[in-house]
Amino acid sequence: MTVRHFLSLLDLNSDELHNLILRGIELKALRDEGKQACTLSGKNLAMIFDKSSTRTRVSFEVGMSQLGGHAIFLSPRDTQLGRGEPVPDAARVISRMVDGVMIRTFDHALVETFAQYSKKPVINGLTDKLHPCQLLADMQTYFEHRGNIAGKKVTWIGDGNNMCHSYINAAIRYGFSLAIACPKGYEPDADILANAGDRAAIIHNPMEAAKDADLIVTDVWASMGQEEEQKRRESDFADYQVNAKVMAQADPNALFMHCLPAHREEEVTTEVLEGPQSVVWDEAENRLHAQNALLEFLMG
Ligand code: CP
Ligand code: NVA
Repeated sequence: MTVRHFLSLLDLNSDELHNLILRGIELKALRDEGKQACTLSGKNLAMIFDKSSTRTRVSFEVGMSQLGGHAIFLSPRDTQLGRGEPVPDAARVISRMVDGVMIRTFDHALVETFAQYSKKPVINGLTDKLHPCQLLADMQTYFEHRGNIAGKKVTWIGDGNNMCHSYINAAIRYGFSLAIACPKGYEPDADILANAGDRAAIIHNPMEAAKDADLIVTDVWASMGQEEEQKRRESDFADYQVNAKVMAQADPNALFMHCLPAHREEEVTTEVLEGPQSVVWDEAENRLHAQNALLEFLMG
C-alpha cells in the first residue's frame, strides 16, 4: 500500500477533507464527554521542529496522547539532523521506528524529501510555503459556526505567505472564492495562485477586497525567519490592518480568523481580535480536534 502524506491540502480530495471536519467535530464532542477514542493505541508520532511553536506542538502532543499513542519532540539542538545528517538518511531511520512524522521547518523541499524517503505518513506542520494543518482547524471552525463554506466569499488581508498559500489551496478543495488583499511586492506565489483559476484573485485594495466577505482572515506581517524585515514590513503593510472599518465592509454575519500568534494593533486591532465576530480561540482549539482526525486518517 502506498503511504499517504499531508504536505499540502491538495494531497487530500474534497470528500476526504470534508470527512475530516465531521470526524474532528465527533472527536471534540467525545473529548467534551471525558471519553478517549484510543484509535491510535500504541502508535508513535515523531515531531521535528526547526521553528518555534505553541499550538502545533501542544495540539499534536496532546492529540497523540488522547488517541492512545505517544509523541516524541525532536529539536535540531538535540538530533543528528541538527548536526547535518542527510534528510534521506534521517527519514529512513526515523520512519522505521515510528508510525508517523510531523515536521515544522523552513524549506518546503525538506518535507518533500523526507516524505520521499519515509515509510510512514509525513505531516507538514508549517513550512515557508504552506501551513495546511491550520486550514483543517479553520475549516472546522467555519463549519461549526456557519455551516458549509462552499460558495462563500473569504478575504485574505496581508502577506502572500504560507497561510495565504494554504487558503488558496483551500479555495480549490472547499469550493469558496478567495479575495487576496496584499501590498504590491507581497503577492502569493504565482503558480499556487494560477492553480486556483478563478477561485482566487488579488484585489490590492483591502476595503474593496473585504466587501460582502463571509470570512476575513489575516496573519502576521513578518513570518518566522523574516524578523529582520519587521520594520520595513510595518510600513509596507500599514494600510492592511484588519480593523472595524474593514470588518464593516464585510457581511454583517462575517467571522474573523487569525492562526495566531497575533500582533495586536499591527495586522489586527484588539477590538476586532477580541470582538464578537472573532473566533480565534475556537480556531486555535480546533487544531487539536482537526489534527486528531487527520492522525487517525493517516496512521489509523
Ligand atoms: N498557528 C500556529 O501554527 O501556531 P504555533 O506557531 O504556535 O504552532
Ligand atoms: N505565517 C506565520 C504563521 C505562524 C503560525 C509564520 O510562518 O510565522
